[in-house]
Amino acid sequence: MRTILITGCSSGYGLETARYFLSKQWNVIATMRTPREDILPRSENLRILPLDVTSQAGIAQTIKAAGPIDVLVNNAGIGVVGAFEATPMSHIRKVFDTNTFGVLAMTHAVIPQMRERRSGVIVNVTSSATLAPMPLAAAYTASKQAIEGFTGSLAHELGYFNIQAKLVEPGHAPTTSFARNTSVRIEDLIPEAYADFAAPIFQSFARPALTTREIDVAEAVWLAVHDDTGKLRFPAGADAVALSQAA
Ligand SMILES: NC(=O)c1ccc[n+]([C@@H]2O[C@H](COP(=O)([O-])OP(=O)(O)OC[C@H]3O[C@@H](n4cnc5c(N)ncnc54)[C@H](OP(=O)(O)O)[C@@H]3O)[C@@H](O)[C@H]2O)c1
Repeated sequence: MRTILITGCSSGYGLETARYFLSKQWNVIATMRTPREDILPRSENLRILPLDVTSQAGIAQTIKAAGPIDVLVNNAGIGVVGAFEATPMSHIRKVFDTNTFGVLAMTHAVIPQMRERRSGVIVNVTSSATLAPMPLAAAYTASKQAIEGFTGSLAHELGYFNIQAKLVEPGHAPTTSFARNTSVRIEDLIPEAYADFAAPIFQSFARPALTTREIDVAEAVWLAVHDDTGKLRFPAGADAVALSQAA
């Protein structure tokens, strides 16, 4: 039985991916900043471990407690929407600490054991924002685009050791906690000078033609983990798939 460790399982895409792999009889290590036992089905195949991906010591502790990992899914992430000039550098650093350096640090932590076993898969969850430039998302896109480049390059050196690195690129899901999971209010990031520019964008954000469901991401992670064609990118959700086809 194979073991998957997923970051950011307290809600949204990570939670659904944990449920999905559990339902397929995998050993699942669901990690959360604040562990909760009540949101996943009880199962002897499930372990819930604490993990904040911005804590180097925490990462070392969790990876040690986890034991051998066949698949790592770097899903934990936070967003930021707003005019770039109004976004405080302190917040931009926080976004990069989670979305970018968190992924790099987790990847660092699992490579040695995968290299020794000469097997493993690392799936990095980015965003459809990397498929086509979206307005008012410059800092967030930068944090995710870095992981796109990182993963493509890393796939070459890890391929030498039979370890695969993949990208899952979800579209917009109004149903996850993503929009609420930010310490800055969107209103504070739209200065008066940007108001007329931003108004129609927020109107279109409120009525998206296509969206992504949590299950779309879980299924895309499943596909990415099982694909052996060397494919790097797995868009997830109707909006992301449409963008990737237009690109
Ligand atoms: N929803 C969208 O529209 C969308 C679109 C494209 C890509 N994505 C990406 O998809 C991934 C999952 O997002 P989601 O929509 O499922 O949002 P979500 O419901 O907010 O889930 C994000 C998860 O990341 C966790 N997290 C945040 N900071 C963390 C940290 N420092 N260490 C460990 N865990 C941390 C959160 O935990 P806490 O509960 O502790 O905060 C939560 O479990 C993210 O990488 C996001 O960028 C989302």
